[in-house]
Amino acid sequence: VRYHLTPKDLEGYTVLVTAGPTREYFDPVRFISNPSSGKMGYAVAEAARDRGARVILVSGPTALPAPWGVEVVHVERAEEMHAAVLERFPETDAVVMAAAVADWRPARTASEKTPKQEGKNVVELAPTPDILAELGRRKAPGQVLVGFAMETRAGRERARAKLERKNLDLIALNFPTRAGSAFGGDHNEVELLFPDGRVEATGRVRKRAVAERVLDHVRELLIAKEA
Ligand code: CTP
Ligand code: CA
Repeated sequence: VRYHLTPKDLEGYTVLVTAGPTREYFDPVRFISNPSSGKMGYAVAEAARDRGARVILVSGPTALPAPWGVEVVHVERAEEMHAAVLERFPETDAVVMAAAVADWRPARTASEKTPKQEGKNVVELAPTPDILAELGRRKAPGQVLVGFAMETRAGRERARAKLERKNLDLIALNFPTRAGSAFGGDHNEVELLFPDGRVEATGRVRKRAVAERVLDHVRELLIAKEA
């Protein structure tokens, strides 16, 4: 029912969404990751689809079914997500980076499982590419970039610094340690921060409602950039 009642206000636009965690492997069966469920990003992808956009969803491993009517690209590692997103970036009007990209990967990945007796209690890590920062550097004048920030303290300041550093149009600040917006749930509470200093709070609502709010702004920003 919702599908038929939704105004198709993103028709003609291509929206790329990333979702879920990444996995950074030590060996074929062990990895570093995080508790992201992918629900926030999938909600954005589904909402954009329902509003008429062509949607590309670049997803890390999640337990969620692939949404109908969306081109889903499955990836595991941050470097795979980086390649998948950069390859498609030129054809997009907007990118919403809801993925929880691991910041670090093991510096070396063993090709065989390492028995624990042969393992060490220290691992060398290497940074993963910052996908969103790269998009910020490559952004064309008409493109809209949205990030998510996950902060447990000094949220506003840190999120604003990311908004600026990554050349974003909007960042949604999450509070993962706050009751009611924990990882994996169907609800979230975010603050939307804009480059001009504006802050809009959603209150605690369904992830789908957060997605709709974000897309309302994406649409406005796209139209403003066309003018
Ligand atoms: N992000 C990204 N590539 C990375 C890390 C993060 O594209 N390697 C994106 C996330 O998808 C998110 C935004 O950057 O949209 C902010 O992610 P966050 O983890 O909050 O910020 P970081 O820049 O990684 O800073 P830190 O984790 O150190 O606070
Ligand atoms: Ca990070």
